[in-house]
Amino acid sequence: MPWEHITILLLMVCITSLVVGVEERQRDECADLNNTTWMEYRHHRVKLQVQYLLLTRRNTDCAQMFNQESLTEQPSYFNTSRPTKVIIHGYRALGSKPSWVKELARALLRAQDVNVLVVDWVYGASFAYNLVVENYKEVAVQISVLINQLQEHGCKLESFHFIGVSLGAHVAGFVGTLFEGKIGRITGLDPAGPMFKGADTFDRLDPSDAQFVDAIHTDSDYFGISIPVGHVDFFLNGGKDQTGCARSRFASMYGYVICDHMRALHVYMSALNGSCPLRGIPCFSYEDFLKGRCVDCDVFKGTCPTIGLSENSGIAMSPIPEEQKLFLLTTSSPPFCTHHILLELDVSPLDKSAEVEVTLRTDKLGTVQRIRLQTSTTVYRTVLAHPVALCEIDSIKLKNTGARFYRQSDIHFKSICVSEFPSLRRDEPLCVNNISVRRGTPWSHDFVQVCGIF
Ligand SMILES: *[C@@H]1O[C@H](CO)[C@@H](O)[C@H](O)[C@H]1NC(C)=O
Ligand SMILES: *[C@@H]1O[C@H](CO)[C@@H](O)[C@H](O)[C@H]1NC(C)=O
Ligand SMILES: *[C@@H]1O[C@H](CO)[C@@H](O)[C@H](O)[C@H]1NC(C)=O
Ligand SMILES: *[C@@H]1O[C@H](CO)[C@@H](O)[C@H](O)[C@H]1NC(C)=O
Ligand SMILES: *[C@@H]1O[C@H](CO)[C@@H](O)[C@H](O)[C@H]1NC(C)=O
Repeated sequence: MPWEHITILLLMVCITSLVVGVEERQRDECADLNNTTWMEYRHHRVKLQVQYLLLTRRNTDCAQMFNQESLTEQPSYFNTSRPTKVIIHGYRALGSKPSWVKELARALLRAQDVNVLVVDWVYGASFAYNLVVENYKEVAVQISVLINQLQEHGCKLESFHFIGVSLGAHVAGFVGTLFEGKIGRITGLDPAGPMFKGADTFDRLDPSDAQFVDAIHTDSDYFGISIPVGHVDFFLNGGKDQTGCARSRFASMYGYVICDHMRALHVYMSALNGSCPLRGIPCFSYEDFLKGRCVDCDVFKGTCPTIGLSENSGIAMSPIPEEQKLFLLTTSSPPFCTHHILLELDVSPLDKSAEVEVTLRTDKLGTVQRIRLQTSTTVYRTVLAHPVALCEIDSIKLKNTGARFYRQSDIHFKSICVSEFPSLRRDEPLCVNNISVRRGTPWSHDFVQVCGIF
């Protein structure tokens, strides 16, 4: 091999090791959440070992360790005149560190110039759930000590916004209890249900824990809590089962076990990106919501609360109502927003029960809904999620699908109307009147409309 080549080769080896060295050093300097294993957990019987990571716009990708001394003894990016977001993770079944923390911190920092403190209590949060539930108040006490210290350095209690995931929501709630509700805001992302639903408000997240408490519910029949715990409680798709999360036991572990539960977090992160509004409609129950009985936000003086960082979720009135259940439908992937379409059918009296299939269509996107028609009722209202706005709906199609066992006669509709809600402009619904739909002969109608002309 000629000399030049060897020199180049050596040079390349040098450069490579140099680069690797720098990368390694950077990785070492960045703090991370801890993780633990079952063996370690059993042998050391480690106590809580709560630690804090700090992320700001100056170190978005490289967390700093943060503690009591950080404000006085070490140089820190923490800025006491800025608001502080405190992220608290939940139960860790396998002792691993939560993978979403950096993405949430990044989304928060993109939206606001704040301090982001991550509470790492992986040691206390791992393995036996009942022991973890014993730990969560102790973690809250430790956090409150840090908050007291930050107060001494000039941070205001109302400038703290806690974001707690699952069990982390109740940790945040207990910090709020310790500060007698003077903390600015607590957001609970699918607050944990098991061992909390029947709990006293002292022991779980509730509206008295902060000046404003908002919660997103996505798995309230399993890991999440089914009762309202905030001023506003968003129940996505009814709060139990989420679109795109597998229902089958044969699906992946993630799909089956925690997809619904983690959806609250993913929707929240997407809302921080702010590509489209996720508005909740106040209603007594999801059944009422799906039946089109709740289509406005008049209880909030017309503004529907939105998921995300806007102050008091956008509610302008005071005092803010408490434990207000809000409902909305979502799609199965980011940005999760959908349009709520109210479908109203006025049917002439039937001799036999029937079934009709309604399809709303926009280009290649279709939304299909089957409705059972009874002999005892003539007016039907139902809510559907459509991917685009009402003004972009091109056509409606009706198919008489029911009655496999006997010949079903024509169904006569006095009127069929579709409208979008919540609607600030109170657009006129799109209606078609006086149509008969024969079995085997679908009926369809094209709408000619233009968006945004007014
Ligand atoms: C987490 O665990 C893995 C091995 O399971 C280990 O390589 C890694 O260093 C651990 N990270 C932390 C921050 O403890
Ligand atoms: C957590 O991991 C860091 C390294 O990332 C280490 O310095 C620290 O001692 C660990 N903390 C605990 C409580 O084990
Ligand atoms: C801290 O934040 C305040 C308010 O945003 C800003 O004016 C100031 O420059 C910041 N200080 C540092 C050291 O970045
Ligand atoms: C938010 O936006 C960023 C940048 O556009 C993107 O990388 C990220 O995936 C988005 N996150 C979500 C949850 O939509
Ligand atoms: C409904 O349509 C039928 C024919 O399709 C017509 O005979 C009837 O007069 C119409 N009724 C009303 C109220 O417009």
